[in-house]
Amino acid sequence: CGIVGYIGHRQAYPVVLKGLKRLEYRGYDSAGVALINNNKLNIYKKQGKVSNLEEYVIGKDLDGQIAIGHTRWATHGEPSDRNSHPHLSASGQFAMIHNGIIENYAPLKAELINKGYEFKSDTDTEVLLNFIEDIKINNNSTLEEALRIALKRIVGAYCILLIDQEDPTTILAARKGSPLVIGIGKGEHFLASDATPIIEYTKEVVYVNDYQIAIVRADELVLKNLGNEVETPFITKLDMELAAIEKGGFDHFMIKEIHEQPQTIYDCLRGRLNAAEGTIKMGGVDNNIDKLLNANRIIVVACGTSWHAGLVAEYLFEELCRIPVEVEYASEFRYRNPVILTGDVIIAVSQSGETADTLVALENAKEQGAFIFGVVNAVGSSIARISHAGAYTHSGPEIGVASTKAFTGQLAVLTMMALKVAKAKGTISELRYVELIRELDAIPGKVAEILKDTTAIQKIAEKYKDASDFLYLGRGYNFPVALEGALKLKEISYIHAEGYPAAEMKHGPIALVDETLPVVFVATKDRFYEKIVSNVQEIKARRGQVICVATEGDTVIPGMSNDVVYVPDADEIVGAMLSVVPMQVLSYYIGTYRGIDVDKPRNLAKSVTVE
Ligand code: G6P
Repeated sequence: CGIVGYIGHRQAYPVVLKGLKRLEYRGYDSAGVALINNNKLNIYKKQGKVSNLEEYVIGKDLDGQIAIGHTRWATHGEPSDRNSHPHLSASGQFAMIHNGIIENYAPLKAELINKGYEFKSDTDTEVLLNFIEDIKINNNSTLEEALRIALKRIVGAYCILLIDQEDPTTILAARKGSPLVIGIGKGEHFLASDATPIIEYTKEVVYVNDYQIAIVRADELVLKNLGNEVETPFITKLDMELAAIEKGGFDHFMIKEIHEQPQTIYDCLRGRLNAAEGTIKMGGVDNNIDKLLNANRIIVVACGTSWHAGLVAEYLFEELCRIPVEVEYASEFRYRNPVILTGDVIIAVSQSGETADTLVALENAKEQGAFIFGVVNAVGSSIARISHAGAYTHSGPEIGVASTKAFTGQLAVLTMMALKVAKAKGTISELRYVELIRELDAIPGKVAEILKDTTAIQKIAEKYKDASDFLYLGRGYNFPVALEGALKLKEISYIHAEGYPAAEMKHGPIALVDETLPVVFVATKDRFYEKIVSNVQEIKARRGQVICVATEGDTVIPGMSNDVVYVPDADEIVGAMLSVVPMQVLSYYIGTYRGIDVDKPRNLAKSVTVE
């Protein structure tokens, strides 16, 4: 979910609405706002995207200099108007929005129902709000005190904003697990789940920490812990430009972000990789090189696309550094009581730095003494902050729900890391090290070459857009690329797609092959080339439709394929950053040909801050 709040001298509604649009990638099951005008609370909320809310409020009272807004990714309660936020307390005096999950909502709800409370929604949020109100009434306390007492009894994750119609001068906010940033203006404050709704007004922000309560007024920001002690806000300066979060002439964020990759990969390498000198500088790695050199094992913890980047890291670190690597889904890792030994290094990979499963998995591992290295895109995010050390991917804000440029940024960082560790460990020859630095340095230019003309990929997209299933196959470094290709297609076209190691395909998926099944091969010239050629033959023999991503100049693959897309030649260590690009473009066009809003595909959210 995304949350926004404003208090200050402006009309609050336009600020909050614009902020909700910027945060819509975090969920779009419903949207809503609460405003206070002349001590009257007005709440408007609507199922669906923010644009539905915008239409719904036409002609309504939108005055007020204090407002909170919410865009929802449904957890408790189906997407509907009544389950939309903000929620109103039983008395009608307080309105609240919430991102997260209250795990012990059921006993609290039962307690409140016993006391005669009636609930208007199925949400855990309404339970928390009435719980706060009940404490306030029983203890005759201030809202702030009641909030503090309530939060001590809550199990789960939350970021909440709470307003009181009798006090239009204050927004109360609190966070645990779900992100909250407060922008500091002149006589005004902005609250949001991330910095994107804030940057056009101010660059000075405070990242609220877990277990902090913020008392926010137009000209005052007070942070307290749950023990009611005042804590000093730490002000950070945002390093982000407005243009970075706008579409800049492209139809969708996704295609804009795909086309940004030559620049974002370059930005990631810049200042770190020096091809002329044959060196890589990465502060987070340099300062902790002992930890990495002495690692008995690396455990990569991630979700979704970031997990696929982790799989590439497995190949990289095992091959180049001779360190055993395990790649874990954060959601499984956190609950299966994993064995963590001294000398284990955890690499956390996350675009948003807020994915709840990843975050909690890391907290648990940290408690058990693991060293955490974060590979994160969002600067200042929760995962970046709990990591012992890290390297940002510097891909810029990624808005399209399907991750693209963040993935190639992750690969660039992980490759540099592996090369550095290999060099320090002596598991790579000087010659090979310098060669791979040059290969890495050439990647932005080669990605640009792929993106110069995508008409061939567009044609393929048009040809296969009505298929009901796709199979994606690859080997070695391109096996994770096959998984990522399939995930991209699923996410934004709703076509069922499966990624598989090309050789393993014989043990199951081959049963699906007939003349209706498009099979996408990553068949670039690497050490598996001959093998993959055989796998292509196996599919051809069963009359599957073969689409290949091949290396420029290949003369064998075109003769065996129905369709071919070319990528420039590259060493396989860096090749995934190239072969994934046609996959992204293909999914984008298939999704758009099918009329899907690719930036906001159904049911997904960019930043999943609930488990
Ligand atoms: C969501 C997004 C995916 C992303 C995954 C992990 O499911 O839709 O695109 O890969 O979360 O997110 P993270 O921010 O941790 O990389």
